[in-house]
Amino acid sequence: MDMFSIAGLRKSVRNFTKKSFDENTKNEILDFFTKCEMLDENIKTEVKLFDKKDLPKEAEENGGYNGFLIEAPYYIAIYSEKKTCFIENAGYMGESIIFKLTSMGIDSCWITLKQDYVIKQPENEMRMTGLIAAGYGEKFKNPKIINKMIWGKGYDNLKVINIDTDNKARKEVTEIVYMNEYGNNITMDELASSGIEEGFYAARHAPSALNRQPWRFILDNEFVVLVIKKDEYTNIYEAKIDAGAVMFNFAAVITERVFKIKWIVEEPEKEYKIPNDCAIAAYCHI
Ligand SMILES: Cc1cc2nc3c(=O)[nH]c(=O)nc-3n(C[C@H](O)[C@H](O)[C@H](O)COP(=O)(O)O)c2cc1C
Repeated sequence: MDMFSIAGLRKSVRNFTKKSFDENTKNEILDFFTKCEMLDENIKTEVKLFDKKDLPKEAEENGGYNGFLIEAPYYIAIYSEKKTCFIENAGYMGESIIFKLTSMGIDSCWITLKQDYVIKQPENEMRMTGLIAAGYGEKFKNPKIINKMIWGKGYDNLKVINIDTDNKARKEVTEIVYMNEYGNNITMDELASSGIEEGFYAARHAPSALNRQPWRFILDNEFVVLVIKKDEYTNIYEAKIDAGAVMFNFAAVITERVFKIKWIVEEPEKEYKIPNDCAIAAYCHI
């Protein structure tokens, strides 16, 4: 399956059957772990697949919105050393794994980790940096949180409805892509003549913590600049996983359809009129 189709198909599933992976499926997943895409190949990482019963306690203690860990037959944990952009890298790798799972008909959902837990591990130790639930989803049952999260009030304050998919609750591409500077919304004509519009359409389907869709793109001639909108409901850890995941969606489609691109996780030296509640996460040359 092509990357653009996978981007459109991927969705978070939170309600899994107990069905196990057969041996071939498990081996295919484990094999993919050794070759999944990275933002920075110099960051030491390790990816592990856990059966539910073997999930390390640290994941149970630190995973999930408000401490609510999604029940799943399997969990995928991305371990990383602490280095510049190691969290974005985990987001990138995790999303590449999710694309692979989606192409295999396997459902998944990112699970947030407590920021303090990720950052405050002993300096030279590998730490769990990304966590993903995986398995085969129940048909047409995807509990979705529909009210705002109130921290410290427990999961009970959340209103949940069962839906087929919440993938449709998405910003329009023209709302998230700007021309030349922040806030200057791209027109449909400009988008069509950019030659990379499919990358933006795929990016728009990326997962994001609490579905905040914090990504904005500035198309500046031969550069695309990724801006992340800060949010009172999400933290820096989540913003960085969001950034890594959306970078993968964009890069996977552009690399497959147009040419290979590489994100640089730095701020370009140019004024883009970025507002105070936003920050540049990365840029790439197209
Ligand atoms: C960094 C990150 C953390 C997330 N953490 C959780 C989580 O702990 N629990 C959960 O149910 N969903 C979690 N999600 C999934 C998002 O809620 C989901 O991506 C968003 O609602 C959009 O829906 P979609 O993925 O189906 O497009 C997380 C997503 C990201 C990117």
